[in-house]
Amino acid sequence: MDQIISEIIRFTGAAEDRLFPTTYGRTALLLALKSVPVRGREVILPAFTCPIAVLGAVIESGGIPVFVDINLKNLNFDLNDLRRKITKSTAAIISHHYFGMANPEVAINGHMARKHGLIHIEDCTHSLGAQFQDCPVGKIGDLAVYSFSKNMISPQGGLLQCNSDGLIEKVHTLYNQNSTGRITGLLANLEFLTFFCRLLIVRKLFQSVNTRFKPNSLPYRVPPLLYMPFRLADIFLKTQHSSGRFYYVSKENVLKDPSTVVIRMTDFQKHIIRSRIGLLHQMNAKRRDIAERLNEIVPPFFLQEKAQRSVYTNYVFCTYDKARVLSLAKKASILFTETWPARGKYWKEQNTKNVERLKREVLLLGISPYWSEKEIREVENFFYKNKDLFFNPPG
Ligand SMILES: Cc1ncc(COP(=O)(O)O)c(C=O)c1O
Repeated sequence: MDQIISEIIRFTGAAEDRLFPTTYGRTALLLALKSVPVRGREVILPAFTCPIAVLGAVIESGGIPVFVDINLKNLNFDLNDLRRKITKSTAAIISHHYFGMANPEVAINGHMARKHGLIHIEDCTHSLGAQFQDCPVGKIGDLAVYSFSKNMISPQGGLLQCNSDGLIEKVHTLYNQNSTGRITGLLANLEFLTFFCRLLIVRKLFQSVNTRFKPNSLPYRVPPLLYMPFRLADIFLKTQHSSGRFYYVSKENVLKDPSTVVIRMTDFQKHIIRSRIGLLHQMNAKRRDIAERLNEIVPPFFLQEKAQRSVYTNYVFCTYDKARVLSLAKKASILFTETWPARGKYWKEQNTKNVERLKREVLLLGISPYWSEKEIREVENFFYKNKDLFFNPPG
């Protein structure tokens, strides 16, 4: 059995023939949506989500996005709004486990989906390895998607888990039809290599993903020389980057033939992920330790219940003055990121009251399992020194 699959089984308990390694989390989501299928039908998703990856997959699969507001307690759907938005043309609901947390209310969303005969997709891209009451994320939805980039295993790679007997054949068929082929496989690998090279020149390998960094340090000022030849090859070979990082054979093909999106994980991605996936358990434990230390200083957004084992890909907190915190953090060389929609186009329906509030008050800190004790202390000191700028989350 492939090591990627065996490790995923360790985390999710899924059967081997239910797991489908993909190029990204977003292509896993695309495969899920195409299996439903959602073309011409409505797909319900939280207004608070990644405007590139999640929306990109819905639109790519021909679905019509319908946004539901979120609650500020655990960022799950506002259940009243969810009820209101389910119509005869709804095909699927996408639930989220945000930023490394296990969202216990996903079970309620699943229940509602079943009641209305809808497919429930669990987006676990941020939270591989998290669990609630011994139930790993990804077990509740008919389909679940994971990503290998949020937890610093690899800059790319994703996985679809199919829990539904009714959908498994369709998923197998679509997955097998999506042959990477020689040319598309080469292009996908080439693209991966460009990303890989960029990582190599940016600080130590993999540490740069989602982590603390010094914005003025040398690699950020050097033009990505190593990366350029591959980028030029990309352009020459017409690999297109539409909707973020999906792969297409050519721009003309995108709308006519979405099967040209490379969904299956490439060999190159497999090599990288295999070499690192064994560390995931350890990495999650280290992140959890760091988060527990930070919990003592700054009020965490997500209150942890006893039965909750989160993996803290990000530490989430609220501030009275986002601009000030960002500027102080920059001086201290700590990278905080803003929540969606930080970049990328947002649909106006996504600008709900609660999403607006999160955008104004919430910041994220990518927790790296590679931080040294000294670095952890620096982060602790930062929070401690600026304690007055943070407040208890609204939930
Ligand atoms: C909520 C959510 N779902 C899915 C994805 C897609 O994951 P990947 O980057 O592996 O395509 C992302 C990534 O940003 C995300 O934030």
